Amino acid sequence: MSEVLGLAGVSVVRGTKTLLDSIDWRVADGERWVVLGPNGAGKSTLLQIAGARMHPTRGVVGILDEVLGAVDVFELRPRIGLASASLASQIPEHEKVLNVVVTASYGVTGRWRETYERDDERRAFRLLEDWGMSTFLNRPFASLSEGERKRVQIARALMSDPELLLLDEPGAGLDLAGREDLVRRLSELAADPLAPCTVLVTHHLEEVPPGFTHALLLRDGGVVAQGPIDAVLTEEHLSATFGLPLSVTNNGGRYAATARH
Ligand SMILES: Nc1ncnc2c1ncn2[C@@H]1O[C@H](COP(=O)(O)OP(=O)(O)OP(=O)(O)O)[C@@H](O)[C@H]1O
Ligand SMILES: [Mg+2]
Repeated sequence: MSEVLGLAGVSVVRGTKTLLDSIDWRVADGERWVVLGPNGAGKSTLLQIAGARMHPTRGVVGILDEVLGAVDVFELRPRIGLASASLASQIPEHEKVLNVVVTASYGVTGRWRETYERDDERRAFRLLEDWGMSTFLNRPFASLSEGERKRVQIARALMSDPELLLLDEPGAGLDLAGREDLVRRLSELAADPLAPCTVLVTHHLEEVPPGFTHALLLRDGGVVAQGPIDAVLTEEHLSATFGLPLSVTNNGGRYAATARH
């Protein structure tokens, strides 16, 4: 299997604060990773690095057979689908749902190509259909519910047919039905052999979709544990990650955690 991400000794320092501290991390093609950790652990920073949106202060970052710093990031970024709150906040309020998705392909084509326009629209429509959003095509993005917005953002991240999909807290702000719907859809995506290698960031064990293969636990910018999911999502590792004694259950691939008293 080829390597999708290869981080060696990666640190990110801002002023006196170390956001990421000597991270070694390898992600191979076909793997589905979940990244867990408390607020401020460095999860979003790690995803910014993996998405070629940020350079490390120290260390080497390999992404899709390229080395960050030695590659034009504008060629690399379209190969990576990213959905995050900071990206969503850049979407103009009145942008129509279909456009939110279709504009993600402009980065790929790099220029306006009339003949591609139709194909792009068709692909965007199909993705929105896959994510249950085909009746919302002309709705302004700002008018959608949080759950609907999340699904549009994932469709957008998939628009360029990326080789790597990075999702930063796609479950944030969803109600129970919304979360369960998202977990089911992500689980289906994980099971699709044609789906891109995926990295999902979350705070909540309940949001880990069944079928995800690996986990990385972060605390204070450092790795607590990483590897095959069952070996990593243990009471010992999760208690150390979140800084409190936890009871952890795994019910048919659905994990849950509660404080141990
Ligand atoms: N420019 C900066 N200067 C100093 N500290 C920063 C800077 N940018 C981010 N940080 C800090 O780095 C830490 C890691 O941030 P990051 O957003 O990666 O955390 P996170 O794990 O995604 O947290 P959350 O779960 O809350 O989203 C935070 O404590 C944040 O305040
Ligand atoms: Mg974050």
